[in-house]
Order: sequence, then C-alpha cells, then structure tokens
Amino acid sequence: MYDENDPVARYYDFSFAKASKHETEYFKTVVNEVSGPVGDLCCGTGILTLEFSDSSRKIYAIDSSSSMLQVLRSKLTPEKKVEVVQNNMNSFTLPEPVERIISRDAFFHNLTPDDQRSTLKCVYSALAEDGVFAFNIHVPNPKFLASIGTESARKFVERGRYGIPNSEDLLVISQISEVDYYHQVITTTLKFETLDRFDHLKKTEFSSWKSRYTFPQEIFYLLELTGFKLRNTFGTYDRKPWNENTMLIIEARKDS
Ligand SMILES: C[S@@+](CC[C@H](N)C(=O)[O-])C[C@H]1O[C@@H](n2cnc3c(N)ncnc32)[C@H](O)[C@@H]1O
Repeated sequence: MYDENDPVARYYDFSFAKASKHETEYFKTVVNEVSGPVGDLCCGTGILTLEFSDSSRKIYAIDSSSSMLQVLRSKLTPEKKVEVVQNNMNSFTLPEPVERIISRDAFFHNLTPDDQRSTLKCVYSALAEDGVFAFNIHVPNPKFLASIGTESARKFVERGRYGIPNSEDLLVISQISEVDYYHQVITTTLKFETLDRFDHLKKTEFSSWKSRYTFPQEIFYLLELTGFKLRNTFGTYDRKPWNENTMLIIEARKDS
C-alpha cells in the first residue's frame, strides 16, 4: 500500500488527513498519561507523532509504507526522539516495552480476521504490563453499506478541494467505493485532479486502498481473545458515546 510516488503520500498532509483539535487532544491525553516511550502504529506521515515528539519522549513511529515514512523523515529534526520502524502492523516488534500505543485511521487496513488478530497480538507483545492500545474503527452503518452497493453509486463523488502549497494550483479529490459484503471489505479509489488557476485540468492521478469494516462485537471478542480488557469506548474524539452513526474509538488495556 502507498508504494513509491503514490499520490496519497504526496498530498496527504495538506488535504483530507489533517487531525482535528479534538483528535489531537484526545491522543495527547492518552499519551500524556505516561512519561515513557510510546508507539504510533501506522503513523503515516507523522501527523500525530509530531504532536507528541519532543526531546524528552521517545516515540516509535511504525508504518509499512516507504512513501509515507519518507514524508515523515523529511519533517524530523535532531531534537525529536522519533525512531522510525518500517514494518507491517501484523508483524512488528519494538526494542523495548511501551506503555501506550495509539493508532488513528489504520486498524481497518487489516483485511482479514487473521490479520486483525496478528496485529492485536503484536500490540500486546509490544506493550508494557497494563499498557493501553487506543485506536479507532468504523462501525458498519447498514444504510451506508447498502447505498455503496447500488449501481447508481458507481460514480466518483467529490471529497474536497485544497490549495496546493507553494503553487497556484488546486487539488480536487473525488472518491468511489465498492463493497465486498461477504469479506466485509470496501475498496476506495481516490481520484486526484490538479487544476491550474484558470481551472484547466493539468493532471489526473489515482490511488486506491482496501479497508475492512468490523462489527463492534467482533472487535470486542478479538480483543478478549488476544488478552485485552476494554478500558473505554467512545464514538467521537470529545468522548461522546458510540452508535451506528459514529466511529468506534477503543482503549484496550493489556490484561497481564
Ligand atoms: C489513513 S493512514 C493514517 C496515518 C496516520 N495514522 C494518521 O493519523 O495520519 C493509514 C496508514 O496505515 C498504513 N498502513 C496500512 N496498512 C498497513 C500495515 N499492514 N502495516 C503497517 N502500516 C499500514 C499506511 O501506510 C498509512 O500510512
């Protein structure tokens, strides 16, 4: 996913990936419960990693994508104690136990129950005793799932327009989704169109990824199976309850 030169890595930071104030504050609170090293699993370009990194705290920034990590590396300065770990979330190890692992918008890239279980086992092994894994998944919303399965949904829908930094060009991002109900996998294809200041199309690029939607009870069972206890669940980053119209944010404690 996101190999060399993938448009997602190039456009990520200034388009759809920005973290909201609530997101940043939520993850900061989880991380600041401890003073030792922490992990940012599937850190991407380091949007969250860089919020926590300073000279006093070591952060392990783990991701499998060389292009996303290349962007993160370009933003690192010597005083930031960030150790980049290029690895898959379902097979990574860390050189020392960490008390917190956070992961924003990534667990759903585990496409099978086996991968999900392997990832949770890796997180369990990487955590110190009583360590916490804070991450989010999408709660499958039946109406949304039904709507993307219809023939009329087979067209690109605009997701946003963003000024490209240091240029007069505009980036228009559109998206189309396709669902495999049996495997609970959604394929999302993004179209990136670069327009000049006269709105003329200069370039069109595509990228796609797969994500697996997971029913809440599935993930709760998986967490139990892999040795975690639920500490908290929320539907929003300002800690409102979850339901079928929200995502599901989970804080799972290593039960040792
Ligand atoms: C939507 S981005 C989220 C990035 C970051 N957490 C953030 O909040 O901006 C998903 C990230 O997961 C990474 N990823 C996807 N599958 C992965 C896997 N199996 N192992 C490790 N990283 C993976 C991608 O490379 C990408 O950087």
